[in-house]
Amino acid sequence: MNNNPTYCLQGANSSLVLSISESGPYIQYWGSRLKQMNTEQLQSLDFRQTAPASAEHEAPICLTPTSSSGFFGQPGIQVLGDGFYLDLNFELDRISQQDNELQIYCLDRGNHIEIKYLLKMDTVHDLLSIQTEVKNNSQSKVQLIHCSSGCIPLPQTITKITSFAGRWANEFISQTTDIFSGSFVRENRRGRTSHDSFPGLLLRNNQCSEPVGQAYGFHLGWSGNHFARVERLPDGRLYLQMGELLTPGEMVLSQGESYQSPLLYGCFSASGLNGISQKFHGFVRQRILTAPQQQKLRPVHYNTWEAVYFKQDQQQLMLLAEQAASIGIERFVLDDGWFIGRRNDQVGLGDWQIDQQIYPQGLNPLIEKVNSLGMEFGLWIEPEMVNPDSSLYRQHPNWVLQSNNAPEILARNQLPLDLTRAEVQEYLFECIDALLVEYNIRYLKWDMNRDLHQPIQQNKEGKSFPVGHQHTIALYQLIDRIKANHPSVEIESCASGGGRLDFEILKRTDRVWTSDSNDALDRLKIQKGFSYFFPAEVMGSHIGPKKCHITGRTFDMDFRVSVAFFGHMGVEANLFELDETEKQQLKYAIKLHKAHRQLIHTGDLIRLETVQTAISFAIIATERTEALFCYTQIDTDSNSMPGRLYFLGLDLQSCYQLNLLWPLNTDDLNCIQTTTILEKIDGKTFSGEVLVNHGLQLPILNPGKSLIFYLKLLP
Ligand code: DGJ
Repeated sequence: MNNNPTYCLQGANSSLVLSISESGPYIQYWGSRLKQMNTEQLQSLDFRQTAPASAEHEAPICLTPTSSSGFFGQPGIQVLGDGFYLDLNFELDRISQQDNELQIYCLDRGNHIEIKYLLKMDTVHDLLSIQTEVKNNSQSKVQLIHCSSGCIPLPQTITKITSFAGRWANEFISQTTDIFSGSFVRENRRGRTSHDSFPGLLLRNNQCSEPVGQAYGFHLGWSGNHFARVERLPDGRLYLQMGELLTPGEMVLSQGESYQSPLLYGCFSASGLNGISQKFHGFVRQRILTAPQQQKLRPVHYNTWEAVYFKQDQQQLMLLAEQAASIGIERFVLDDGWFIGRRNDQVGLGDWQIDQQIYPQGLNPLIEKVNSLGMEFGLWIEPEMVNPDSSLYRQHPNWVLQSNNAPEILARNQLPLDLTRAEVQEYLFECIDALLVEYNIRYLKWDMNRDLHQPIQQNKEGKSFPVGHQHTIALYQLIDRIKANHPSVEIESCASGGGRLDFEILKRTDRVWTSDSNDALDRLKIQKGFSYFFPAEVMGSHIGPKKCHITGRTFDMDFRVSVAFFGHMGVEANLFELDETEKQQLKYAIKLHKAHRQLIHTGDLIRLETVQTAISFAIIATERTEALFCYTQIDTDSNSMPGRLYFLGLDLQSCYQLNLLWPLNTDDLNCIQTTTILEKIDGKTFSGEVLVNHGLQLPILNPGKSLIFYLKLLP
């Protein structure tokens, strides 16, 4: 029997056992909670005989597997010396455990490279985090080519991977693939978290669905380039690696210098994908959103972008503010177009001074008007960018990030500033700080509207070196500095919509702009993808114009409301274009949202399994005292009658009053005149067990129609 030393981390419902092999530490077990940590038994059940035509001892899947250990998968680390290859081989140096936290030091004694791992199991939320730090203790420089945040073996029963694809204005589109022999790889080189490759994966077995089955969820907290790899090895074993995607030359470590990987977060759920989300949500709520302002009720937003675009006019905006206040808006956000010369997207970025032609006395008259109407004021900025047509660029053309060996790449007529330069950081800090000092700005919408195509710097000798990693760190430093000076100012992370959205940016921001698309139908899918990792309160979700400006599709107010209702709600449409009925609907919807936002922003999300023509989910109070269930018909059914809605998650022993909360008017839910069930059940009392097990026969719904039910536990 093998007697490797072992260490255990216990979560609320999961256990992790880490064992030490000759090639370093590896995760021996991670799954359902083991009451008794009989590590000897675990080890004896792991014995694998020598396979034909194979090495005598199979290389373990260590936290950082190396080629020299005989591992044929992706090495967890790759390092180059000055013109030679470092043949790495790590041995355990020391390990310490404090509660549910392990610090492990491994050494490559020949090459003088040290690895330090930090493994933490958040007991309450059952969430594992792993960080890997690589230190160069040799006397010469080395180049880190690849470093995974952690390599995690997974049970061979895992058969499916869900990853997230998409594009601008259609983010978080989930795609599920069967695991195959070989590698599944996702890579992002866009210099921000990206619209198209969210750094998150869901891995599960065949029996797993939203409410049941075993699954693992992973997320890399990093707002720059990243990779994810899941490989089934020819010997049948399965592993996952995620980490920062380094460009060669980007991570050169001199003597004594270290590289810290982004944090890899993971969780195991024996209660389906809903279990994964509840763990991520709980962790985000209690460990990431810790600023005091995040504990207050999230104010309903009005955002000027889709109402006026660049046509800002102080008088008109004041009138809009009056309209906004009259329907119950609590925060008025002035979007792009307020600074010098900014009449379109070709000019002005970088010149963060108020445009005196639009605002002759600065922003104070508008802000005072907004405040006098009882609303907070928020302002849009895009600090990381410059338009070539700007004073800043004319003065400092060398402040941008670009290749000196390839043509400049413009995107949305702008260039990214090199935030790694101290003078750029200083300039941006001073501009933003000055705005926050002068004006009563409670909220910044921090936008970022292009990828970093050429994250390259030139040194004095004209030599190029990539700075993607440093640039991401520099962005964090800039935001941290602003937050340190103005801790109560909230910041929204927006990058052309949901292009920068991860746990690391969320540590320093307060909500995210989920997508530039306010198309309610697309939003349902985007928000569903988003919901696997992030809770509703950080999900900026706006009621847009009737005809969506991105897709050209038209949706009625009822539908737009029902979709925006379940996030951090806002309105982004020209309020003067609403007819009186729409205005009253909107006003009532905002009132309803306010009445239920506490539940939406703290409750447990349950996604329900439905036919493909519908999307349904619930938010249930942790104590099961109240719940909201939403069912939306997204396409035409093939059956003449829809199925049932099962109110999963309610307390089986209790009774609930069932109310249809939305829409107010049910006349046009379908095109037929026959009586629906809604009139018969509204306000009635049902037992939890009947609601859960028997469910409700749904009425016929046209595509683009939603029902929101509110259930209140009866004493
Ligand atoms: C992209 C954002 O996502 C939009 O909401 C808006 O702020 C525009 N930029 C402004 O340029």
